[in-house]
Amino acid sequence: MTALEQLEKHLSASGFRRVLVITDENVNSFYPYYFDCLKAAFDVESVVVPSGEASKSIETAARLWRGLAENCHDKNTFIVNFGGGIVSDLGGFVASTYKRGLHYANMPTTLMAMIDASVGGKTAVNIDGLKNAVGTFHFPDIVFKPDMKFLDTLPKRELESGFGELVKYAMIGSPGLFAELSGMSGFCAKAIKQEWISFCIELKNDIVKKDPYDNGMRHVLNFGHTIGHAIESLSAEIEEPVSHGLAVAQGMFYESYLSYKKAGLPEESWKKTASFLSSHFGIRKITEENFGKMTRFLLNDKKNEGGAVNFTLLREIGEPVTDCSLRLEELAELLTKTDFQI
Ligand SMILES: NC(=O)c1ccc[n+]([C@@H]2O[C@H](COP(=O)([O-])OP(=O)(O)OC[C@H]3O[C@@H](n4cnc5c(N)ncnc54)[C@H](O)[C@@H]3O)[C@@H](O)[C@H]2O)c1
Ligand SMILES: [Zn+2]
Repeated sequence: MTALEQLEKHLSASGFRRVLVITDENVNSFYPYYFDCLKAAFDVESVVVPSGEASKSIETAARLWRGLAENCHDKNTFIVNFGGGIVSDLGGFVASTYKRGLHYANMPTTLMAMIDASVGGKTAVNIDGLKNAVGTFHFPDIVFKPDMKFLDTLPKRELESGFGELVKYAMIGSPGLFAELSGMSGFCAKAIKQEWISFCIELKNDIVKKDPYDNGMRHVLNFGHTIGHAIESLSAEIEEPVSHGLAVAQGMFYESYLSYKKAGLPEESWKKTASFLSSHFGIRKITEENFGKMTRFLLNDKKNEGGAVNFTLLREIGEPVTDCSLRLEELAELLTKTDFQI
């Protein structure tokens, strides 16, 4: 069954008559007629927000709330977030807050949203540059089998970003998938397999089922993200921002090294990981100066205590270990004084 057929079946079975599609300008310009096939049976409207992180704001959410109120939407309206993670985070937030919660689902159009952002029920907007500062947990009614054709129009940068996150799922959950990805000479939309996407969705769903509100088990999803977020935030401040997935790939490189030094990852696995990540993503050195600038972001996490930084590391590929704590001084030594030959 296609994603659209799944949606149609769900709407009929649940008795919804009205559908509000929330999308962004780029997605709308590529796929303006995507939901037309539902129009015979349902009242379908859509609202388009500008593309980009700036739309993940309380101001855009307020504009959407007002639009919902003006057009008399209520609990009988089903929201479909049609786009990447920006649209699903924003639209999920609006769905969770308007009239104390409308039913919704995400129809992901980026690789990042297919494997990660559209799954797991975290919604968010940013305030004053603080990412995901305000948000809720609001679980979608269903998670669709994504429509792979969307990847054909996705810009290369976005595809690479999603691929970085996909590698993370392989590294925390599947040595077999990691080996398969390592065998690739390069990647493009055509190389992405539906079964990889299904694997990521299932793994995330399994983890979320065990820890829906992010109190413990969900932390395994943070592998690569402690250093990755610091690189992403720093790059946004000092130069052309790197994409989330590319920053996570850099983070996974360095956190694999920490895993080798501190969590028992065998040397051979560290070497395999290092060679794969550096050949696909181009790893940059962390200079002492940059490490200094990254500390603010590294210590920003609420899980960090007393000058130590909390990591999810790997005992082996496919075996994450949460709550590994490293002191800042030791971290500086390991990250800036090692010759990584990159
Ligand atoms: N809630 C979660 O669990 C979760 C997980 C991961 C990421 N996120 C959030 O997701 C956001 C990033 O999402 P993203 O990487 O999908 O970025 P995005 O939503 O900004 O999409 C990337 C770009 O691609 C365009 N686009 C989308 N689909 C397209 C298509 N099929 N063809 C052509 N262009 C297309 C978009 O308009 C945008 O310009 C971040 O805000 C991040 O915080 C949330
Ligand atoms: Zn991520």
